[in-house]
Amino acid sequence: SSIVSSANKPIMFILLNFNNEDLWVLFSILFLPLYFVTIAGNILIVILVILDQRLHTPMYFFLGNLSCLETCYSSTIMPRMLVSFLTGDRTISIKGCFTQLYFFGSFAAAECYLLAVMSYDRYLAICRPLHYVTLMDGRICIMLIAGSWISGFLGMNIVLYFVSQLRFCGPNKINHFFCDLTPMVRLSCILPSFLITLTSYAFIINSILRIASTTGKQKAFSTCSSHLTVVACFYGSLMIVYVLPNMNSLSDLKKVFSLFYTLLTPLVNPLVYSLRNKEVKEAIKKTLFKMFNRIY
Ligand SMILES: *[C@@H]1O[C@H](CO)[C@@H](O)[C@H](O)[C@H]1NC(C)=O
Repeated sequence: SSIVSSANKPIMFILLNFNNEDLWVLFSILFLPLYFVTIAGNILIVILVILDQRLHTPMYFFLGNLSCLETCYSSTIMPRMLVSFLTGDRTISIKGCFTQLYFFGSFAAAECYLLAVMSYDRYLAICRPLHYVTLMDGRICIMLIAGSWISGFLGMNIVLYFVSQLRFCGPNKINHFFCDLTPMVRLSCILPSFLITLTSYAFIINSILRIASTTGKQKAFSTCSSHLTVVACFYGSLMIVYVLPNMNSLSDLKKVFSLFYTLLTPLVNPLVYSLRNKEVKEAIKKTLFKMFNRIY
């Protein structure tokens, strides 16, 4: 049933989750622990990057800032979604919907830009190694990071201005588990940063292929493979959700892939870096060792 105000304008939106009720229960059981692992993993990365001297390089500053961003990003969707999974209450006020849209959109856009910045950083490190230190100094790092946040929020303010001009008088049901943007609006933010990322990786792969020795190739590739995994997960699921045509048969599939970029990318990032990256692994060991030494 829909809640409609006297002026016949919807005062609430109704979030339609998955059609299958069993799926709901499964998701509630699955997502609560996943959310905590995501938050814990990202906070761990932030702590490591701040505490460990060896991680004080541009690449890890970007990673730490990305983890900060992803903590915020998943917190705009997950808690609200879990509440509606657990209580069965699928309504959200228009204000709530706009607030969620605003923060989720801004964080997602900032993440697009930051991922592009990180691929540019890898491009400089691999293709212009001799100039890397001068081209990526502390000041430029801060500017690029601040730029990502500012562009994300600025872009979203403009979008939201236009959305707020719309009048909602039709159906007040949103067939999704959170308040999301229309594909067109989202694509306009994804495309530029996707092109930057794609171009950087085209140059990176081209220059890796030109390295003669196999070990040299592996070494160069290992510095960007973790980031490439995160990028592939994020853009892959975004593309499936926003580029595939709007067909009924695809709607549940798309919701599953929305879970990928809302929940799994923030989870994949700390996992990939802490499992595959030697420096992060050592930082974890060192930090744990220090902690135990302090306790005993
Ligand atoms: C974010 O980036 C800035 C600038 O490079 C750096 O000083 C800071 O430590 C980073 N923050 C985290 C949590 O990694």
